Amino acid sequence: MEVVNRYVATRHHIVGAPTEADFEVKEETARWAPDSGEVIVRNLYLSIDPYQLNRMKRISASHLAVDSILPAQRIAAYAAGEVVASACEEYKAGDVVAGVLGWEDYTLFKPSPAVLMSKVADAADAGFPLSHHISVLGTSGMTAYGGLFEVGKPVKGEKVFVSAASGSVGSLVGQFAKIAGCYVVGCAGTQAKVDLLKNKLGFDDAFNYKEEPDLKSALKRYFPDGIDVYFENVGGEMLEAALANMNTYGRVALSGVIAEYTGGGRRRGAGPAGRDLQAHHHPGLLRLGLPAQVRRVQRHHRRLDQGGQGQGGRGRVRRTRERPVGVRRALPRPERWQEAR
Ligand SMILES: NC(=O)c1ccc[n+]([C@@H]2O[C@H](COP(=O)([O-])OP(=O)(O)OC[C@H]3O[C@@H](n4cnc5c(N)ncnc54)[C@H](OP(=O)(O)O)[C@@H]3O)[C@@H](O)[C@H]2O)c1
Repeated sequence: MEVVNRYVATRHHIVGAPTEADFEVKEETARWAPDSGEVIVRNLYLSIDPYQLNRMKRISASHLAVDSILPAQRIAAYAAGEVVASACEEYKAGDVVAGVLGWEDYTLFKPSPAVLMSKVADAADAGFPLSHHISVLGTSGMTAYGGLFEVGKPVKGEKVFVSAASGSVGSLVGQFAKIAGCYVVGCAGTQAKVDLLKNKLGFDDAFNYKEEPDLKSALKRYFPDGIDVYFENVGGEMLEAALANMNTYGRVALSGVIAEYTGGGRRRGAGPAGRDLQAHHHPGLLRLGLPAQVRRVQRHHRRLDQGGQGQGGRGRVRRTRERPVGVRRALPRPERWQEAR
């Protein structure tokens, strides 16, 4: 079987903020054979995440954890799709899968324990739309769940601060923390996002960090009694300001430092506040893809969803975006990585 496969590739290593000109759509013939042991998937939904920027650089500390993305090569990414043909018993044509696929129309993979892939039949039976499998049930949901509950360990009544709070991870963290009975404040970069956090996603409060001349004082204003759990998505000055406001025995879940992915020479650590970070619980989140953890996340989200959106109701957790993407949409606006959701 042969199919024409269009895939998105970088033209060169990315420096700074990416633009459309840094990418191109390439075409190849993908071949699947019945004796190959391979599965060929038509991709339907794709997750485009900030960490991929670091993979696209010539040099990045992230390359120690994930493969780098080389110019002209296909880009592996978390996605959901439908099996077109399969040469192994585990999968059959028509199965719907979610896992590491790619920025392309079709992806071929050979099942093995090292390949992060699962059939979505069970959760689909529970009524989750397919797009949930790359968002709430995908890496964003795993990061939010693992970071908040397994690292942050929030206790009812505690004060939680979330940065990049309107993003795919932050928006879930805030909602989970509210469900856990915490007081939650988020920061975001526009008034529209601040309104979204307060009026739709149920945050207790939110502020526009771009309008705050002094982040340390801003956080002191929102957390006069200090922060118990900080969910860190941004880095740099935001991390310094949050650390300056942490309570004794507070916990910091380090999810990422997005402010520094496109900032060229800007520093990567917490600067002078780095030693304060040592005082807080901050294990990394690199092992979130373990199957047991995926199952825990799915059980957790299914409980939240009971009688909820899967059955046509509203559920208890809202996502800030739902739009079919597909490979055609992956190319045009990579700069949206830094934009509103
Ligand atoms: N998605 C995942 O699966 C995943 C997994 C592990 C770790 N992470 C980490 O989680 C963090 C958030 O990822 P995400 O997937 O939620 O991203 P996202 O949905 O793409 O949202 C990112 C948001 O970050 C904010 N941002 C961008 N530049 C910023 C800056 N210079 N200073 C402050 N905020 C900035 C922007 O919102 P504003 O307009 O509000 O600034 C942007 O909308 C990243 O550090 C990422 O590396 C993500």
